[in-house]
Amino acid sequence: MPVPTIEWKNNRVRLIDQKALPHKLVFVDCLTAKDMFRVIQDLTIRGAPAIGIAGAFGMYLGVRASTSDTFKGFFNDVKKTESYLALSRPTARNLFWALERMKRTAWQNRRHPVPVIKKKLLAEAETVLAEDKAVCRSIGRFGAALIKKGDTILTHCNAGGLATGDFGTALALIFTAHAEGKRIKVFVDETRPVLQGARLTAWELMHEGIDATLICDNMAASLMAQGKIDKVIVGADRIASNGDVANKIGTYSLAVLAAFHHVPFYVAAPLSTFDFKITAGQGIVIEERSGDEVRTVMGYPVAPKKIKVYNPAFDVTPHYLVSAIVTEKGIVRKPSVKTLARLRSY
Ligand code: MRU
Repeated sequence: MPVPTIEWKNNRVRLIDQKALPHKLVFVDCLTAKDMFRVIQDLTIRGAPAIGIAGAFGMYLGVRASTSDTFKGFFNDVKKTESYLALSRPTARNLFWALERMKRTAWQNRRHPVPVIKKKLLAEAETVLAEDKAVCRSIGRFGAALIKKGDTILTHCNAGGLATGDFGTALALIFTAHAEGKRIKVFVDETRPVLQGARLTAWELMHEGIDATLICDNMAASLMAQGKIDKVIVGADRIASNGDVANKIGTYSLAVLAAFHHVPFYVAAPLSTFDFKITAGQGIVIEERSGDEVRTVMGYPVAPKKIKVYNPAFDVTPHYLVSAIVTEKGIVRKPSVKTLARLRSY
């Protein structure tokens, strides 16, 4: 670690193929916005901040071949690329945050010739990536203060280096506490249906030499009842202004269990995950994915072919079940409209 999830190299975007992990570490190249759309949609790259970075580079890829020599024509191509990439996945706020940021960059540079604006857009995407690396380290530094020596932590899905530029959000706290010599242990939910915990989080923690144990998603209650979990730490895909958190399906069940067993429940996320335009979790669009993700395990059929399936990729945890949200600007305890208000000024 850190894992370089996505890079700009040889005039193209190179990213880790997360579908091949943990058995193979292979890379995929993206040369067009269409390539980028596909890798976001099929989870080759996933995790809210990583999707945001991919979206920023996707915007550049989408307009670099634009033949318009007027700003008006070029800006039309920018807007078309934005609308196109926005359809790749709906829930992670970071994607839309990055697309809007890239469109704004084009607009702010409207007085420059088109080739200069193109260069500025590439530079902006590289800044989005560089900022993410710094932001995640800051989240790690603030959040590690919540972790005590010898703690056992439960995490869900993958909010690690692979879900960001290279260091993670929830796992940033864990990496930092581990580096501080806190001798922590981590239980990793496998995270059905597509097993981001088993495939990605387990791989990252082992890579870092952290004591990690994989469990099935339905084992968390029993571990908490036995007093084996000191805290739960997860990431987020979108956070409403009242602190309601959309994250990987199964997060809400963990929050309910944590409240019942008096286990602190922490969310780690950058400011780019906050959506202050949405007042509460009910306003968050939850992606529904193909039923085949549930009928199969890693492509292997496990259910009758024609069984009906409901497959929401995310759920919403109400803010009153969240003990604190860790951001790059510090920790907000008991998230609410009031306690989160100071984050609006950044
Ligand atoms: O469907 P995914 O794998 O993109 O879902 C990822 C999650 O739910 C993560 O917990 C979230 O994006 C935070 S990543 C730092």
